Amino acid sequence: MAKLAVNLGGIAMKNPVTVASGTFGYGREYAALFDIARLGAVTVKGVRARPWPGNPLPRHAEVPGGLLNAIGLQGPGVDAFLADDLPFLRARGVPAIVNIWGASAEEYAEVAARLDGQPGVAGLELNVSCPNVKEGGASFGTRLDTFADVVRRVRAATRLPILPKLAPNVPDVRPFVQAAQDEGADAVSLINTLPAMAVDLEARRPVLANRTGGLSGPAIHAVALKHVHDAAQVARVPILAMGGVMTARDALDFILVGATAVAVGTATFLDPLAPIRVLEGLERWLDDHGVADVNDFRGALRA
Ligand SMILES: Cc1cc2nc3c(=O)[nH]c(=O)nc-3n(C[C@H](O)[C@H](O)[C@H](O)COP(=O)(O)O)c2cc1C
Repeated sequence: MAKLAVNLGGIAMKNPVTVASGTFGYGREYAALFDIARLGAVTVKGVRARPWPGNPLPRHAEVPGGLLNAIGLQGPGVDAFLADDLPFLRARGVPAIVNIWGASAEEYAEVAARLDGQPGVAGLELNVSCPNVKEGGASFGTRLDTFADVVRRVRAATRLPILPKLAPNVPDVRPFVQAAQDEGADAVSLINTLPAMAVDLEARRPVLANRTGGLSGPAIHAVALKHVHDAAQVARVPILAMGGVMTARDALDFILVGATAVAVGTATFLDPLAPIRVLEGLERWLDDHGVADVNDFRGALRA
C-alpha cells in the first residue's frame, strides 16, 4: 500500500485529501455519512469575528459543468465556532483547517489570534479571494499590497500554519505565491471560485440575487491546474490545490504538477462520499502504478 502521509506546511495529514471550504460545513452533516477522520483534514466554512448572514436568496445556480454560488460567507462567527463546532471536530480526531476572513486586515488578525493555540486547529486558510462579498474577500486577494498586508498581520497574530487562498482572477498567480512566502506563509491554497454569472432569459433577470457569483466544479479544473502548475514554479512552500476535483484522477493531476494536498469541493454536493471515493481511488492508482509514496509523485510532470 502506498504511503499517503504528507506535511502541508506544518499540518501533518495522514493522507493528501481534504475538503474545500464552504462545501462541507463544519463536518457535522457528513459525519453522519462517513468517518470524517479518514480525511487528511477537514477544511471548514469561512469564519469571521462575528456572526454573518451572507447574501439574500437565491444564491445557488447550476450551470453547464459547474455550480454558481453567492453564499456571501454566511457563518456563526469565531466565538460560536469555538464553542460549538471545533469541539465536535476535535472529538472526531480530525485536524481542522479553519478558513478565516474579515472586512479588514485587522479583522483577519483578530480571528487568527482567537484561534491561536486552540487544540484541534491545525492551520488557518486565509480567504482573501471570495468573489461574493462587498468588503474583504477578493478585494484583498487580487491586489498584491493588500494581500501582503493581510498575510503579514495574520503572521504576527498566530504561530499556527497559515495558508493564504489565492484568487484565480489574476493574470499571474506567481507574484502572490512569492508575496505569501515572503510574508511568512507556511503554504498556499488555490483556487477559489471564478467570478461568473447566469441570467434568466425569460424573466430578464440575473439568476442570483447578488447578480454575480463564483463558479466551481469541473468547469474550472483546467483553469485551476494551470494556476497550480504556475504556482509550483516559484513555490518554496507546499500547495493545497482545489478546483473541480470529481475523481481521483483530477486529484492526481494536481499532485503531478506540484500540489502536496488536494481539496474536494463541489463534487461533494453530487456525491457526499466523493472525498472518500477520491482518497480510495488515489491510493489504488498509486499502487497500480508502483508509486510507493505519494510524496514521490509530487511534481513528477515531465517537461
Ligand atoms: C457553496 C460554496 C461555498 C464556498 N465557501 C467558501 C468559503 O467560505 N471560503 C473559501 O475560501 N472558499 C469557499 N468556496 C470555494 C471552495 O472552497 C473552492 O475553492 C472552490 O469551490 C473550487 O473547488 P471545487 O471546484 O472543487 O468546488 C466555496 C465554494 C462553494 C461552491
